Amino acid sequence: MGEGVLTEGRRAGGPVAMPAYRDALFEDAGLERVGGELVFGGVRLSEVAAAHGTPAYVYSFPTLRRRFGLLTAALDGVPHRICFSVKCNGNLAVLRLLHELGAGADIVSGGELARALRAGMPAAHVVFSGVGKREAELVRAVEAGVGFINVESVAELELLADVAARLGRPATVGIRVNPEVQAETHPYISTGKRGDKFGVPLDVVGEAAELVNRAPQLTLGALAMHIGSQIVDVAPFAAAVERVIALRDALPGRARETTRALDIGGGLGIRYRDEAPADLAAWRAAVVPLLRASGCFVLLEPGRFIAGPAGVLLTRVEYLKQSGGTRYVIVDAGKNDLVRPSYYRAWHEIVPVRAAVEGAAETPASVVGPVCETGDFLALDRDTPPVARGDLLAVLCAGAYGFSMASTYNARPRPPEVAVDGGAHRLIRRRETVDELLQCEEGLES
Ligand code: LLP
Repeated sequence: MGEGVLTEGRRAGGPVAMPAYRDALFEDAGLERVGGELVFGGVRLSEVAAAHGTPAYVYSFPTLRRRFGLLTAALDGVPHRICFSVKCNGNLAVLRLLHELGAGADIVSGGELARALRAGMPAAHVVFSGVGKREAELVRAVEAGVGFINVESVAELELLADVAARLGRPATVGIRVNPEVQAETHPYISTGKRGDKFGVPLDVVGEAAELVNRAPQLTLGALAMHIGSQIVDVAPFAAAVERVIALRDALPGRARETTRALDIGGGLGIRYRDEAPADLAAWRAAVVPLLRASGCFVLLEPGRFIAGPAGVLLTRVEYLKQSGGTRYVIVDAGKNDLVRPSYYRAWHEIVPVRAAVEGAAETPASVVGPVCETGDFLALDRDTPPVARGDLLAVLCAGAYGFSMASTYNARPRPPEVAVDGGAHRLIRRRETVDELLQCEEGLES
């Protein structure tokens, strides 16, 4: 393990300075250092790596429970259901756990519907969002009896009316409204401002409600919104909720009567670095009085808030290299495993699984993967403690949009997923194999 320790550029000095925000990150995640070793869900991460190899995603079930509990508490006094956003982490064991806690699911595809149902969630507790649902997906949703099909355009609504009529089955519709509220976040994940591709524009909501009323199989059950993801400011949430409640109040007679639910979407932001995460107490103070006054049943679609801090990506240092003044730490996890840093320039804190040598200083390094692109990195030019070949690193806040956005680029099988709970670890998705990657192309030669 000691081989190849990078000593260049080491500053003489005191112990490695832990950035102040790291304590908060550890607390959010439920990570601890015990005797210099990172412990997650009561399990040493080095033990997980020994058992399951690297790269590997590790999820703390106690942290998932705790984060779910925080949201339940924030909505105390409001009749509600938390519909976990499957797109951020669709692992069946994670969905089963959340189902046991009382969660439903927010889905965006037939594949995610299959996941939610397989995890035991009743179809009635599922909300189906998405701008481009295919006809076959609408058929499946109506057949399964999905709780709310949230339509995002008049054209989709017309198709849904046809589908339900053809099947002779009722369906409850939510109209996802574009509330035209600007929220501060990465432009790729802002969804509620005027002109975004999401939701029914404000001035078309009345027409859409009329259409639902005229379709014998359809009932308008909800107005829905989702203004974007990783939002840490309360004001745009409150503004959008207010707008959607006003829209509901303005609905014509029957539509207003049947619209007993408000789906206020997901998007609550977490701490990745030193930013202030969404303040739940402030959120509760701003949003809950509005919700209570509306008298509606409330649906919340959080993903990242619950799962983000509950996951780490474990990776091992393969090589160290110096090039043109840059110190490279080459690890076995690439952008195919965790795309967020290269796709959004997102910051994920990276910490050694075994604490760095006492007295060693941090020096800038780029932590990069094996994928053949310069854009394959986990961190760029970041103060990093001395590491050696074979060392384990934990990439934090990787429980949401980590594995679910992983690909097999460079013919790299996707990593396993491991649950840690009560001091034990358990494989909840095994590592993909190269044979599996080849399977869909086999047996086709004529
Ligand atoms: N509801 C709807 C309709 C959504 O589109 C989303 C996320 C959510 C709920 C859950 O949002 P959350 O609570 O997780 O913020 N891949 C990006 C995030 C994309 C979010 C897409 N929609 C990332 O890695 O940051």
